[in-house]
Amino acid sequence: MFTTALAQRQKTPQDELPLDLFAAIEELKTELNAVILAHYYQDPDIQDLADFIGDSLQLAKAAANTQADTIVFAGVHFMAETAKILNPDKLVLLPDLNAGCSLADSCQPEAFAAFKAKHPDHLVISYINCSAEIKAMSDIICTSSNAVKIVEQIPKEQPIIFAPDRNLGRYVMEQTGRDLLLWQGSCIVHETFSEKKIVQLKITHPQAEAIAHPECETSVLRHASFIGSTAALLKYCQNSPSQQFIVATEPGIIHQMQKLAPNKHFIPAPPYNDCNCNECPFMRLNTVEKLYLAMKNRTPEITMSEDIRLAALRPIQRMLEM
Ligand code: 13P
Ligand code: SF4
Repeated sequence: MFTTALAQRQKTPQDELPLDLFAAIEELKTELNAVILAHYYQDPDIQDLADFIGDSLQLAKAAANTQADTIVFAGVHFMAETAKILNPDKLVLLPDLNAGCSLADSCQPEAFAAFKAKHPDHLVISYINCSAEIKAMSDIICTSSNAVKIVEQIPKEQPIIFAPDRNLGRYVMEQTGRDLLLWQGSCIVHETFSEKKIVQLKITHPQAEAIAHPECETSVLRHASFIGSTAALLKYCQNSPSQQFIVATEPGIIHQMQKLAPNKHFIPAPPYNDCNCNECPFMRLNTVEKLYLAMKNRTPEITMSEDIRLAALRPIQRMLEM
């Protein structure tokens, strides 16, 4: 852990950094009365120093319930934005403001407003991986861990727009038997897994169970014996009697899988090319060093207009109630 932090430190000599970044972060946490929330796709060092690690729903709940004055969000922009929507009076820091999300980017407010206007009788359910502007145009927010449950609670005759992830939308359609009008967005990471390489892995590792996040394409999901959010995948690996897993989601989560089930073997599902594109390039922009600097300098901070915040809060609260 210390070695990685040292290596990161050497990359930005322009910044004065303490010798022990981890101790310095602990001190800043007290000074700021801060809580560090981290997603499972963060670098292992960040996961290890976080006060709370979780999937999008667990992180939103943790943000809603925290007593801290400062939330340091080790995740991507839409996650930190959700924390700010729930906590307008708190300082919400994101170590790197460029930590975006391809799914959120695939749904721009102007285009989405036009799409919505064409279907005025539809209820809008949006996946939490979207901007505050899209949330403000939505009726209910969902995450990968509650999307099926939320759609199931809507009367059958009510038509629904589901945005922005077409893969999660298709999966929800399959699970609920409902016909959803899908926005055609997707995650660059979850669309990178190669079905062919997963099948090859299943042949060479016949004891291994394939598990997948619902943001994956149908061609990958059909090889999975379990499909779920990051938190659900983690729980499944712990409880399943299997000793080997092929994991079709961002491999950052394998750090927690390995910690919770040290004797099991986790194989990251490979991408099409010989590259690291199964790692989320946005999540991985955050580093321990940037996290320290964000706390020290109280920036970059998440801000938004009060109008947007209030409009985005309503569908998030509806999700939390449902
Ligand atoms: P989870 O809510 O399952 O953690 O998903 C977040 C995400 O960004 C998946 O790509
Ligand atoms: Fe967005 Fe995909 Fe990265 Fe998740 S893994 S934050 S959906 S780009």
